This record gives sequence, structure tokens and C-alpha cells, in this order.
Amino acid sequence: MVLRYDDVSRLMRDSRLQATETAMPAQAGIMQGALFDIFQHGMLTANGDVHARRRSPLSRSLAHQMAEEFRQHVRRSADALIDACYDSGSLDLTSGYAAKLPILALAGLLEIPDADVSSFMQHVHAMNEFFRPGPTERAVAEAEHAALRLRSYLDRHMKHPEACRPESFLYRYLALSQADGLTRLEALVQIVQLIIGGTESVRTALVAQTVHLLSEPEQWSVVCADPTLVPNAVAEGLRFEPGIAGVVRVSVEEIDIDGWRLPSGQLVILSTLSALRDERVFDRADAFDISRPNLKLARLAFGGGAHQCVADALGRAELEEGLSVLVERLLGLRLDSEPAFHGHHFVRKTTGCPVRWQL
Ligand code: HEM
Repeated sequence: MVLRYDDVSRLMRDSRLQATETAMPAQAGIMQGALFDIFQHGMLTANGDVHARRRSPLSRSLAHQMAEEFRQHVRRSADALIDACYDSGSLDLTSGYAAKLPILALAGLLEIPDADVSSFMQHVHAMNEFFRPGPTERAVAEAEHAALRLRSYLDRHMKHPEACRPESFLYRYLALSQADGLTRLEALVQIVQLIIGGTESVRTALVAQTVHLLSEPEQWSVVCADPTLVPNAVAEGLRFEPGIAGVVRVSVEEIDIDGWRLPSGQLVILSTLSALRDERVFDRADAFDISRPNLKLARLAFGGGAHQCVADALGRAELEEGLSVLVERLLGLRLDSEPAFHGHHFVRKTTGCPVRWQL
């Protein structure tokens, strides 16, 4: 496990550390099926030219995405989630808000018809369980089933006229992936990876930023009084409690790290969770403080090098709109109890987070 900010940041760009291809499912005894295909055909676990070829159509079509349109969709989705529970004066922030908002955001990007959103959400929830810390055997079996159903649904959806309007994200993506020679399975799997990457990270970060801000009532009040500070709160939330704990790599050569020799063939975790609390880089690293002068360094939460998050702008938009709606609409918001955050390798998870507000 690599812990310091400088080492983590430098080694993310070091070609002696490679993505793990199918090593992770193999370790879990999974050698075929829809979950295995995510590792076998996806960009996140690929290296070199294969990775670049799979990533390029996605990153180019995301670059064309209208940022303002996406923000408005996220905001409408967040408002609808709060409308549904507002009169009760209470909510489980984890299951009622943070688990749903990123899936609704992606359903908007992919133009999933309203009638299909609920089953889309169920498949994504069930599939994602595989990537969270400590899945049970039953959860793995359900995740496999859900991954297959989601892939079949997306395959049908991608032929649907709604998704294939020339100005839609999917239309552009499909045209580029075809031009770049991606197989149909590869094209589908990158969308599945977009869904996994775009839901798990945001879910935990949405809870974390709200909880840590509410735990510092003065800072919560400052953001309520001046919503232009929301981006600072989001950046400090990502630094203090990032949604992804780190990135997993395998060493293909020996590497010296400050007098330590990392052998070849070793699984390595570059821990952003640790690096973002490095006291050599962040003054009072264990304090949540939205007025830090070097908040831009929190972008390490999105990784670095060839695999750096392909959709960090969308992630930030979801976190900012998600927080703005809570700040603007829920007067006197307070925590009933603090959630626990689990996971220190890759995807993290959080327990329930009951909150209340004044009516
Ligand atoms: C809080 C928000 C987010 C955080 C903290 C985050 C973090 C990360 C990190 C650390 C990586 C690098 C993984 C590695 O090197 O192994 C990554 C990659 C990726 N992220 Fe994000 N992410 C966020 C939001 C999103 C969103 C909203 C999407 C999609 C809509 C997304 C899709 C992806 C994909 C597809 C990759 C793989 C890129 C590649 O392998 O080239 N992420 N993300």
C-alpha cells in the first residue's frame, strides 16, 4: 500500500505499475460471465493501446456533453427526490438520496425512458454490490444476473430511436466506437463501466460531504449563507473522505520507493484515502476545512495518469448540485446519527445516514 501524496501521485503515472486486467475476478474464482467481461473488455482494467482505444470514444463523446444541460437534469432529479419525502421532515440520506441521484443522472445522460428507470436502478444496485467491500456469495450471484440483464437492456436500448438522435450522447458514442473499431461487446462494456464508475464513487461522496459539513455547523452555515462556496465544500469533501479509496495496480518491474523495494509481480494499492490526508501536503490534514488554500490538490481523488477519471466534470456537477439542493431546501438540516464508511482499497460503502429538517 502506497500512502504518501507525492508517491501516490507519481506512481499513478509510472508505467512499471499496470492495470490488473482479469486478476481481480480470477482471485474471486470468476473466469467467465457478465461480471468477468467487465474486466476482460473494459477500459479500467486494460493497459496500453487497448486501454486507449476503449477509452477514446467515451472521453470524446463526454467532451461534447452539454455541461449545463447535465447539471439541470441532476438538479431536477435531486429536487424530485426531496419533493417525494419533504413533508415527512426526515430521510435516510444514503438509501433515499445518495444511492439514487447518480443513477438518475446516468439515466438522463443515456436517455433511459421514464418507464424503464426503476428496473434500470434495480439492475445497477444489484450489479454494483459485487464491487463494494465484502460482497456475500449470494450478492455475487445476484450481481452476475443483474450485470447480464443490464447489458442486454443497454444492447436493446442502444438500437432505440430515442437514444439514437444525432445530438444524443449515445449516438455520438456509438458512431465513434464503431469508427475506432470497438466490437459491440466492447462498446457495451464501456457503458457498463461508465455506470459503475459514475454511481459508486458519487454515492459515498454525496453522503460524506454532507455528513462532514453538518458536523461542522459553522461551515454548514457559511455555505447556506453563500452557496458559491459549494464547490469548495465538495472539494474538501473529496479530500477528507473520497468515494474511491485508491487504485489497484500490479508491478511489472522492481520499484524503489524511498528506500523500500517493491518487488515485481506485486499487487499494489495507491491509496488516495491516505494521500489526501498527508500532513506534509495538507495543514491540519485531519480537520474538515472548506477554506483550505490548496483545495485544488483534492483532484487526486479522481486518480491520475492514463486512467484518470474520464468523467470528473460530471462527478463534480452531481456532487455540487446534490449539495446545493440540500443546502437551499432543507432548513435546519441535522444528522440523527453518523454513518460509518467502509473500504480502503477501491470502492467504498457507507451505512444508513438518517437526517431531519424543520418543516
Ligand atoms: C466523486 C466522483 C468520482 C470519483 C472520486 C472518481 C474517481 C475515479 C478514480 C480514482 C478513477 C481511476 C481508477 C484507476 O486508475 O484505477 C476513476 C476512473 C474512472 N471513472 Fe471516475 N470518479 C468519480 C466520478 C465518475 C463519474 C460520474 C463517472 C461516469 C459518469 C466516472 C467514470 C469513470 C470511468 C469510466 C473510469 C475509468 C477510466 C479509465 O480507466 O480510463 N467516474 N474515477
